Amino acid sequence: MPEGTDLFEIIHTTRAMRRLKPDPVPDELIRMILLAGQAAASGGNTQRWRFLVLKDQKIKKAVQAYYKQAFDEVVGPRYASSAPPPGSDTAKYRRQLAAVEYLTDHYHQAPVWIVACLEDGPNPGRSAGSSIYPAVQNMLLAARALGLGSTLTTRHIAYEKEVDAAMGIPPGFHSYAILPIGYPMGRFGPLGRGPLTDVVYLDGWGKPYPGI
Ligand SMILES: Cc1cc2nc3c(=O)[nH]c(=O)nc-3n(C[C@H](O)[C@H](O)[C@H](O)COP(=O)(O)O)c2cc1C
Repeated sequence: MPEGTDLFEIIHTTRAMRRLKPDPVPDELIRMILLAGQAAASGGNTQRWRFLVLKDQKIKKAVQAYYKQAFDEVVGPRYASSAPPPGSDTAKYRRQLAAVEYLTDHYHQAPVWIVACLEDGPNPGRSAGSSIYPAVQNMLLAARALGLGSTLTTRHIAYEKEVDAAMGIPPGFHSYAILPIGYPMGRFGPLGRGPLTDVVYLDGWGKPYPGI
């Protein structure tokens, strides 16, 4: 086990790691990540999840083409016209965009993808994702604890029919996230977030919580 497995250290250094080496990842580590995912909560403990592990270069490349198309059509223009988020600044936001573009171009080269899928029926409602994203976050934290990088990605959903078909996901199930996993080129580091006091209230919307 790599150093630094304290839970709070893991949480506070689980950055989006978008630059990944193509080196293979041992199946035993993928198994540990999947077990962490399966340990998550799901509504009513229904566990209607499936985790599709993808190593097949042809399938990943087919999905990457749609992922790139969604960048060109939506995400790239949005970055160009939006302000840096809380805890960031213009320079950091530019670096984020460069990393997003890098992942877009190299998505399929991540050695392993875990595609988090859910049996959500034909008309999934607002709460559907709440039974799969806890598993996704567990897997991101587990990957980080094992020294592996990943990023929660959902952009492929812009072309959900096409990509789910390319990945062979059957009717009744949908993909909710793709986690490209590999050994990171860079280092895990601190996260950029705004002040906690800006987003937490006590006993009424907008009322400050002096205890924090
Ligand atoms: C719902 C959701 C969807 C996301 N989709 C993508 C994506 O498709 N591509 C990508 O590069 N990052 C994606 N991200 C990652 C976010 O951009 C990232 O969490 C954010 O920039 C904060 O990064 P940091 O944790 O490194 O500070 C997604 C994150 C979430 C929560």
